[in-house]
Amino acid sequence: MRPLAILSALADEQAGLLEQLQGAQRVAHAGREFWCGQLDGLPVVLALSRIGKVAAATTSAALIERFGVAQILFTGVAGGVGEGVQVGDVVVGSSYVQHDLDASPLFPRYQIPLTGQTALAADDAVLETLVAACHSGLQGLQHAGRAPVVHQGLVVSGDRFVNGAAETRGILDALHLHGHAPLAVEMEGAAVAQVCFDYGLPFAAVRTISDRADASAHVDFAVFVQDVARVYAQRIVSAFIQRVFQRLQLSQPRR
Ligand code: ADE
Repeated sequence: MRPLAILSALADEQAGLLEQLQGAQRVAHAGREFWCGQLDGLPVVLALSRIGKVAAATTSAALIERFGVAQILFTGVAGGVGEGVQVGDVVVGSSYVQHDLDASPLFPRYQIPLTGQTALAADDAVLETLVAACHSGLQGLQHAGRAPVVHQGLVVSGDRFVNGAAETRGILDALHLHGHAPLAVEMEGAAVAQVCFDYGLPFAAVRTISDRADASAHVDFAVFVQDVARVYAQRIVSAFIQRVFQRLQLSQPRR
């Protein structure tokens, strides 16, 4: 069976998964560390995306070319920019746009040149499994006295950490003008989506909301990743893997 790639944005998030990895084998490639093994019996490759679109694209291409992964699941944190998307919630990206991509007037704003694509959609089946995994995996958890809400919608990515109300307003106003209403902003998802699009591989991602992309974003971020994002990522990935197994059993006739 070709392995599932689990791409984490941050080492803190990956740490919990690494502790659970059975038969762990470290492979150094492209200046990165990849961990091959099994999680709950499912073959996986764990990797860190690193930060920013190019770094995440390199990691994704290596996962596909060198490790032959069947699909990529991404877990990370993001700034909440949609109405009602609060710190401690999760956003499952149903589509991805690069908010800093602008090759106009050669191509329409936000369009990926020479592909005709602007918003890249996550794989339907993986998305459905991931949303279900978020609901079951996060059951019973609370952040700041509130159960995490699972949102689903547009996630936008760009090569900057967005940490100011005016900066956020500028990004949102331009996106709204072109018909895009994002729930969350981060720095890698759309790049991973583009690599998966190029290779025809299923992709889905979930982001725990660490901040509201305002002036206190960097403060909230550091604390949050250590205390919350690690737990959420571990719970969601475990629930996701259980569901992948259920699906495989259903699709495999009993002998
Ligand atoms: N990841 C988490 N919070 C973010 C923010 N405010 N901007 C970009 N990426 C992020």
